[in-house]
Amino acid sequence: MFNTMTLTKAAGALLGSLLFFLLMAWASSALYTVGEAEDHSGGEHAQADMMSAAPGGLLDAQEEGGNAGAEEQVATVELGTGDAAKGAKIFGKCKACHSLEGKNGVGPHLDGVVNRAVASVDGFGYSDAIKAHGGEWTLEALNEWLANPKDYIPGNKMSFAGLKKAEDRNDVIAYLQEHSN
Ligand code: HEC
Repeated sequence: MFNTMTLTKAAGALLGSLLFFLLMAWASSALYTVGEAEDHSGGEHAQADMMSAAPGGLLDAQEEGGNAGAEEQVATVELGTGDAAKGAKIFGKCKACHSLEGKNGVGPHLDGVVNRAVASVDGFGYSDAIKAHGGEWTLEALNEWLANPKDYIPGNKMSFAGLKKAEDRNDVIAYLQEHSN
């Protein structure tokens, strides 16, 4: 048998425990929030965390875009990718002085010049400047030489201003490479 007193006590106990749980829940969420706030109160560090966490996808995408751009730039000047057929026409500017048939003219013959030692054609009277330079005619060396012969080896005697366009140099080098096997 329940009397009013028992019911009131029971209801009170129930409410009391509900209230207790509510208080606990509130207290723990408050604690949690405080804990989080502490985690992110580290100034720069917290900001960096938030930036990389929130629009992270965006940042990543931007980085990838930047890299792709850089690769494209390198690709346009990559040596050894020239068009030998176009290079044959550009070689018209060199023909007055250079042959590809092993005969020296105003300049040394350029048969096999790619990876040939600098100033190494027998019987050609090279300038002292080019003889002192040493090394080999790698693709990189030819590219720099043909861009501006006077700058690359000061005092050399090749009277040629140079090929200003990287594309033209790439093409003529491809043509020379065809005659270098
Ligand atoms: C007006 C004549 C002339 C023209 C045009 C000319 N050259 Fe030369 N070239 C020379 C001379 C002379 C030398 C030797 C330089 C020295 O002894 O200092 C030389 C040297 C070179 C060498 C170094 C060869 C070696 O044996 O070390 C290369 C490579 C070369 N020329 C490439 C070219 C190319 C490619 C062109 C055309 C885009 C060209 N030259 C146009 C006169 C010319």
